[in-house]
Amino acid sequence: MARILITSAIPYINGIKHLGNLVGSQLPADLFARYSRARGHEVMFICATDEHGTPAELAAAKAGKPVDQYCAEMHEAQAEMARGFRLSFDHFGRSSSQRNHKLTQHFAGVLADNGLIREVAESQVYSIDDGRFLPDRYIEGTCPNCGYTSARGDQCDNCTKQLDPTDLINPHSTVSGSTNLEVRETKHLYLMQRSLREKLEAWIESKHDWPILTTSIAKKWLNDGDGLQDRGITRDLHWGIPVKRGDQPWPGMEGKVFYVWFDAPIEYIAGTAEWADANGLGDEAWERWWRTDKGAADVTYYQFMGKDNVPFHTLSFPATILGSGEPWKMVDYLKSFNYLNYDGGQFSTSRGRGVFMDQALSILPSDYWRWWLLSHAPESSDAEFTWENFQASVNKDLADVLGNLVSRVTKFAKSKFGDAIPAGGDFGAQETALIADLGARIRTYETLMAEMEVRKAAAELRGIWVVGNEYLQSAAPWSVVKTDPEKAQAMIRLALNLIRIYAILSAPFIPDAAATMMTALNCTDWTWPSDVPQAIRALPSGHDFAVPENLFRKITDEERADWQVKFAGVRT
Ligand code: MF3
Ligand code: ZN
Repeated sequence: MARILITSAIPYINGIKHLGNLVGSQLPADLFARYSRARGHEVMFICATDEHGTPAELAAAKAGKPVDQYCAEMHEAQAEMARGFRLSFDHFGRSSSQRNHKLTQHFAGVLADNGLIREVAESQVYSIDDGRFLPDRYIEGTCPNCGYTSARGDQCDNCTKQLDPTDLINPHSTVSGSTNLEVRETKHLYLMQRSLREKLEAWIESKHDWPILTTSIAKKWLNDGDGLQDRGITRDLHWGIPVKRGDQPWPGMEGKVFYVWFDAPIEYIAGTAEWADANGLGDEAWERWWRTDKGAADVTYYQFMGKDNVPFHTLSFPATILGSGEPWKMVDYLKSFNYLNYDGGQFSTSRGRGVFMDQALSILPSDYWRWWLLSHAPESSDAEFTWENFQASVNKDLADVLGNLVSRVTKFAKSKFGDAIPAGGDFGAQETALIADLGARIRTYETLMAEMEVRKAAAELRGIWVVGNEYLQSAAPWSVVKTDPEKAQAMIRLALNLIRIYAILSAPFIPDAAATMMTALNCTDWTWPSDVPQAIRALPSGHDFAVPENLFRKITDEERADWQVKFAGVRT
């Protein structure tokens, strides 16, 4: 039994996430957590909401709510979605928690003690009417290069020229539209990442088994001429973690907060502390996951995220940890994902394009989505959601293959042999061949799951369902029963046990259907079927079972067409 720490990138607080967000981090992390638990490992699975930063402040203002209240409500909404999708977090924390305040201030303090923080004076655009400094992308004006009138302060979207907000002609605030702007002097803390370059490089070089997507992004940022810059870790905002040096005030930094990307990954640790607090446990309970001097040396730590998050997790966050000089657990394996596109374009939160988590659950139960998303996870390249593909996948894999097997077997058994699993004789050659085939396939499935090859694991699982169907097709107990009832009973005894094996193997992907199958079999023994000859005999003759409700229904062409139209437009 191993100890496995799993974190999913923590979603921004502003708004309900779309299915592309879900499949890029939380859902595959959940798959891996469920699988690891099923194999008997001790798992700690942490996620949280990422609550700081300008977008959160602006979203709250738009909703007409104080930012702390807005965040509390949106956290609850996201937690509700997570429950709906059966995301099995041990804790779903908040980056605005007191735990994260303390820990973030602690890290900043030790980094300063280690000489890794310097103060930088800069000039920034201040909007007098908004009463705030404006990040570059919230300032718009006319591009000095091409004359485009909606160029942003960081870049012109028309001619792609990189800009400084002070380059813009007739600049205005996109928050209020105000042109009452001025440049003000301000002071910020910078983390001296450059002086950590060698340590970071050595650490990345030691990760031989990381996927190419992860290491190539990390190395690009490390080696590109000006890749690893010292970076500002503070901001002039109201909402956030106040800048302090440990628990001491930081002279000159009054009224400033830490930058959202500085405190967000620290929430992985703080979220585990929140878990301990929520369960009435002491500090040693979370420290044994995170402090290598307090028991975490034998933990294996996996992170899940979209590719845009990779630089922050391979460089910035490790710089915080390495710079602290303290014995914190660092990531062992970083699983990153490409993007999921939506029906010929991109999912977009700002434009409301695509299917969002709440909408998805309002039309179909979570297993349908989990199955499609995981079996099409954007691993080796970007992937695309289309309604045709979704319909085909649900109708074939879930309804025709798995659902049909379960209903056919249980209904036939009930009508021919009554309420209990029949006895019958010994297994014959066909059964022996099936058992051997299943054994080999389950080994492959285990390997793929352990390697987090999500798509390939889904394909193998589907293959495992298919061989069961093929067996029934050729064994045909419904015909055999007429001539050799003993033999048909043995086949059905096997097939009912096969349903149990399928439930256990499938649970990481489709936990609700798996639970329905186990309930129908009147069984609570979820022991992983490593030993197929034994697992196929787990439920003895005489054991009661029931016919479950239909596991999966088919998506009709009409529904598909409806949804295509319904989700084509912009979410309001
Ligand atoms: N909120 C970020 C996003 O959705 C992810 C933050 S991950 C963390 O892209 F490491 F910073 F926590
Ligand atoms: Zn331009």
